[in-house]
Amino acid sequence: MALDLTKYVASVPDYPEPGIIFRDISPLMADGEAYREATDQIVKFARDKKVDMIVGPEARGFIVGCPVAYELGIGFAPARKKGKLPRPTVKATYDLEYGQSALYLHKDAIKPGQNVLVTDDLLATGGTISATIELVEELGGNVVGTAFLVELKDLHGRDKIKDYDILSLMEF
Ligand code: PRP
Ligand code: HPA
Repeated sequence: MALDLTKYVASVPDYPEPGIIFRDISPLMADGEAYREATDQIVKFARDKKVDMIVGPEARGFIVGCPVAYELGIGFAPARKKGKLPRPTVKATYDLEYGQSALYLHKDAIKPGQNVLVTDDLLATGGTISATIELVEELGGNVVGTAFLVELKDLHGRDKIKDYDILSLMEF
């Protein structure tokens, strides 16, 4: 029987601010069986999509995307924060609670026409995943799906990416 993955997400009240319940995926990553189960579920979602590349945003998108890429035998490209990628990049900005942030992707990370799965640990407002999708599409990639471990339903991030196929393994 499949594991109940919700047991491997720690809910931390009042972090990073009073009133916020932080959903921490590190217990899931720390448990080999749970990490494998989560990875396998995303691999299953990706299998029939003819995925050529996986792209995940810094930092926790790497944790989810890399084992899926390994299992599918395809590549992984990191979308990174400012000043981390050494070669020519494309840039996408997104809104934070206060102010803006940006993600970057190497210009040669995706070839036009490639099918891309975008992964992250958690969907909250959807700003991070939307910026990651924008980068992939600017390079001519087709986003064939998005996959998350956790979706925070109250923040309605799903509405920002409603045109895409979405997998979330757990909802809070
Ligand atoms: C967190 C999380 C997602 C994003 C979700 O990353 O890992 O990437 O926020 O929020 P959103 O849907 O409102 O954009 P964070 O920016 O804290 O970066 P980190 O992974 O480097 O800690
Ligand atoms: N947990 C982890 N990352 C997050 C959260 C959360 O609850 N909200 C926004 N990013």
